[in-house]
Amino acid sequence: MLSSSYIRLLLSSFVLWRLGIAEDPYVYYDWTVAYTTASPLGVKQQVIGINGQFPGPILNVTTNWNVVINVKNHLDEPLLLTWDGIQHRKNSWQDGVPGTNCPIPVGWNWTYQFQVKDQIGSFFYFPSLDFQKASGGYGGITIHNRDVIPVPFGTPDGDITIFLSDWYTKSHKELRKHLEGGIDFGLPDGILFNGFGPYRYSESLVPEGIAFQTLNVEPGKTYRLRVHNVGISTSINFRIQYHNLLLVETEGSYTVQQNYTNMDIHVGQSYSFLITMDQNASSDYYMVASARFVNSSTSAIPAGVAILHYSNSQGPALGPLPDPPNELDTYFSMNQARSIRWNVSAGAARPNPQGSFKYGDIKVTDAYVLLNRPAELIDGKWRTTLNGISYVAPATPLKLAQLFNVPGVFKLDFPNRFMNRPAKVDTSVINGTYRGFMEIIFQNTDTSVQTYHLDGYAFFVVGMDYGLWTENSKSTYNKWDGVARCTTQVFPRAWTAILVSLDNVGMWNLRAANLDSWYLGQELYVSVVNPEISNKTEVALPDNAIYCGALSLLQRMRLKRASINRQYQISTRGQAHRVTFTGTASLPHNANRMLILLGALLVWCLRR
Ligand SMILES: *[C@@H]1O[C@H](CO)[C@@H](O)[C@H](O)[C@H]1NC(C)=O
Ligand SMILES: *[C@@H]1O[C@H](CO)[C@@H](O)[C@H](O)[C@H]1NC(C)=O
Ligand SMILES: *[C@@H]1O[C@H](CO)[C@@H](O)[C@H](O)[C@H]1NC(C)=O
Ligand SMILES: *[C@@H]1O[C@H](CO)[C@@H](O)[C@H](O)[C@H]1NC(C)=O
Ligand SMILES: *[C@@H]1O[C@H](CO)[C@@H](O)[C@H](O)[C@H]1NC(C)=O
Ligand SMILES: *[C@@H]1O[C@H](CO)[C@@H](O)[C@H](O)[C@H]1NC(C)=O
Ligand SMILES: *[C@@H]1O[C@H](CO)[C@@H](O)[C@H](O)[C@H]1NC(C)=O
Ligand SMILES: *[C@@H]1O[C@H](CO)[C@@H](O)[C@H](O)[C@H]1NC(C)=O
Repeated sequence: MLSSSYIRLLLSSFVLWRLGIAEDPYVYYDWTVAYTTASPLGVKQQVIGINGQFPGPILNVTTNWNVVINVKNHLDEPLLLTWDGIQHRKNSWQDGVPGTNCPIPVGWNWTYQFQVKDQIGSFFYFPSLDFQKASGGYGGITIHNRDVIPVPFGTPDGDITIFLSDWYTKSHKELRKHLEGGIDFGLPDGILFNGFGPYRYSESLVPEGIAFQTLNVEPGKTYRLRVHNVGISTSINFRIQYHNLLLVETEGSYTVQQNYTNMDIHVGQSYSFLITMDQNASSDYYMVASARFVNSSTSAIPAGVAILHYSNSQGPALGPLPDPPNELDTYFSMNQARSIRWNVSAGAARPNPQGSFKYGDIKVTDAYVLLNRPAELIDGKWRTTLNGISYVAPATPLKLAQLFNVPGVFKLDFPNRFMNRPAKVDTSVINGTYRGFMEIIFQNTDTSVQTYHLDGYAFFVVGMDYGLWTENSKSTYNKWDGVARCTTQVFPRAWTAILVSLDNVGMWNLRAANLDSWYLGQELYVSVVNPEISNKTEVALPDNAIYCGALSLLQRMRLKRASINRQYQISTRGQAHRVTFTGTASLPHNANRMLILLGALLVWCLRR
């Protein structure tokens, strides 16, 4: 797979060179998303693989590269992949969530095309529909610095991606059925480490014969570990026996470099650590990922345990697992989160320092206090809410409805605060101010840690504390070196404040990263529209866009045209070949324009 993508990369660079255009490179991937079987915890089960791999392949790119991924849906349900943390500047069309894209139907393929513009760092992708992430389908996204931009640490001797997740032996379909019925699906059956079950560190907790992960390393060398919590709803504590974790990056920002003996990684979060192999190799060492903040004794859930093996190791790992933090110390995790700071003098994707954008001096234009509540019954169904509203995804993606002016799909009326009115299901969107500066306070009234993620942006995490947020809480904000990231935790009965500059036009999903809260309705969209009509602040609808909902007729018309087009292509082979090579989708540009016009006409007729 890699070799073919490199050949195509070379070919397209060659073409660009011939044309004399210094365009950013393209990489091409072909991914088939299908069920495969695995037995990570000793029980054979169906998992979601990509090209047969579980976890999926790593998207390994450099700042500004263009990525073209043809995704084939071989599942038995509709599919969308979302690229968590990729900002898709001016291009929410590629975000892969139901508010921006029609799902890829069973048996179809769809080609994502996006640029990782002005970004570096460690992220991951996953399926965004129907709780599928609980069965896998995830993989890493690594964006390297361009050669001309210095990285604030020496080049590591290796770059290793690690996926941690809580895991159930029940399928994603069973899990979501439980949720809909209001049934707690209980504690996870274990924690996976790169899709593997634990090393048998305990005879009572871990059955015999489970395959585990071993990382082979050389003594004295330093490795970069990119660690992601790709799980459903469990915070995970990560640690390595006798080794320090030197934190260097989180979700695209270089941090002030600090050593930690362990790190709490909440659902959806990503961190890079440098680990120096500075021990005496008298044995192998345990790498541990244990559940945090779960009711009942945490030790009832088998930890994810992998083995760190030095090439000169004298034998197997020894002794008890390294200790987790004290579960009763409620401030430990919050203080650790507060200690993560932005290195304001380091450059990231561009040569200027990260801190050259002085967020602390900017006036807030839009402020929202988003209060979440645990699941409750609304109209007889279990739902979760933000400010009393549980999101329902309409059949027509919001973004398409906006372009085609389809009436009645969504309302731009999301309330700034919790209103004391009965909870309801609705499709209510935040009307963001283009080039405004938004403050969002997440107020968690639940008894579990929640994490929230915003697509299209990185935001500054400026404060968090226990209790209720008040205007006075602003005096505690970090106005200087709060880290810019895309996923933040909110502790139980506590708040977290973020600031974000709304400079990216599009329809952007703000969601609970905890899959159960998200699935039951804890999400919304932020619409950012440039009031001036301009084709510079947003790219056009992609030629291969799928239509659904109120626009299904357009899809039927396109399929008809495509079949005529195919016959045409067969009779003019050479041309058909050129169409495939440039990577554009099945329809020529003019045909797509035509469809948009027809669609507008259709909607206009419907409205009358
Ligand atoms: C990822 O890309 C970098 C830089 O292009 C390269 O050095 C590295 O070997 C690649 N890693 C993998 C796993 O392909
Ligand atoms: C589906 O895949 C084929 C090649 O396998 C490609 O030519 C076509 O453009 C893809 N369709 C979409 C909508 O991306
Ligand atoms: C911050 O980045 C600068 C520039 O690369 C680097 O020299 C410095 O060591 C970093 N500081 C810390 C505390 O990590
Ligand atoms: C982190 O710990 C390592 C030892 O594991 C030490 O060599 C290094 O100086 C420490 N770095 C910082 C920034 O504290
Ligand atoms: C190697 O390191 C371990 C852990 O720090 C220590 O207990 C042990 O005594 C050391 N062994 C030797 C031979 O230095
Ligand atoms: C956890 O336990 C506390 C205290 O026993 C209880 O109030 C809370 O509802 C429990 N939370 C969950 C998620 O079960
Ligand atoms: C949304 O905000 C813009 C200004 O940013 C305003 O012109 C427009 O009327 C608002 N729309 C609604 C429905 O409130
Ligand atoms: C953008 O708009 C300008 C003027 O309105 C036009 O000249 C240009 O061709 C447009 N570009 C694209 C890519 O449509």
